[in-house]
Amino acid sequence: MLRVINLVVFTAAFSTIAHRAAAVIPVEGFGQTKDGSQVKLWTLNSKGGLTVRLMNRGAAIVSIEVPDRDGKKADVALGFDDVAGYESPDNQYFGTIVGRYGNRIAGGKFQLDGKQYQLFTNDGPNHLHGGDGRSLDKIVWQAEPFESGGQQGVTFSYTSPDGEEGYPGNLKMTVKYTVSNKNEIRIEYAATTDKPTVLNLTNHAYFNLAGHGSPTINEHVLRLNADRYTPVDETLIPTGELAPVADTPLDFRQPTAIGKRVDELTATSAKGYDHNFVLNRDGAAAGELVEAAVLVDPKSGRTLTVLTDQPGVQFYGGNFLKGQAGKQGKTYAHRSACCLETQVFPDSPNNQGKEGWPNCVLRPGETYKHTCVYAFGTAR
Ligand code: GLA
Repeated sequence: MLRVINLVVFTAAFSTIAHRAAAVIPVEGFGQTKDGSQVKLWTLNSKGGLTVRLMNRGAAIVSIEVPDRDGKKADVALGFDDVAGYESPDNQYFGTIVGRYGNRIAGGKFQLDGKQYQLFTNDGPNHLHGGDGRSLDKIVWQAEPFESGGQQGVTFSYTSPDGEEGYPGNLKMTVKYTVSNKNEIRIEYAATTDKPTVLNLTNHAYFNLAGHGSPTINEHVLRLNADRYTPVDETLIPTGELAPVADTPLDFRQPTAIGKRVDELTATSAKGYDHNFVLNRDGAAAGELVEAAVLVDPKSGRTLTVLTDQPGVQFYGGNFLKGQAGKQGKTYAHRSACCLETQVFPDSPNNQGKEGWPNCVLRPGETYKHTCVYAFGTAR
């Protein structure tokens, strides 16, 4: 009898400890925004050796530590040591969620159901990454850390009120990050609205697989699963055409060093790589993940594979990095990191219904869904 009771007591105590242990994800202060909000930093670990730090301002990735082929870890994401860096003009959306409409909208204008909308123009004549003061990269999101099936994550949520940054509808959003034991960062986006609206949520992490602050990504080798891209005008607005990458410096169908042809683009409006690629989905079902990109640093052997259910990926080669001071005293030189932003095409609101162009309109009763997986590995 005594043994049975002991067992019950032991089991109860053990399950309490196990439960508590499961709920603990280290969190620390990361500073205060200019308007007085507390910013926090969560540290997520995977059994495969990946450590990811996320903050609630901008629901952003602050660091990604990942082993190389010899097990040596480096932080491969650009960022700042505290929230003040992210509030400085040097931030360039490091690691943040961008939106409501990531990328550009021509003239900041679009029509929806016969109604004309005017958004803030913060990139020359155009709207970029959701606008100005209340774009999603600047919002302090609600955060819910979790541990499930041995994997850790944080779900961020925010409801953008009707009319915020000029967009229609109360837009309820969640961005769920899970760090898997296979060394992947899985980002799952969901949104609903109470009025028809347009949206394009994405993450703006900058990667250098040799470690943030390494001087260049010219030697990184890239493969993009795209036969076509969306050519742009002088202000980086798509012309509407879906053009073949064949015989251009944008042909990454075979793995190619980023630096091999980048100078052929220096004098163009993009100033280097800053293009939306039309992913080959080859009949994949809606919601099915396909490989968008594979990035390899031949020296360290670190690899990044990007998978998504979205129709496009923006490959941005860090043309506007200008040697600003980043984390741990490192500086971020011109073209020393790249972004692979899974998305619908830039300026889709002004190309709805055109052959090959994706839907970017969300209506009441529908749910926007987007999954992006950043999977890290090593190659010999
Ligand atoms: C993007 C754009 C670039 C640039 C960066 C932010 O991804 O395509 O042109 O604006 O964001 O610096």
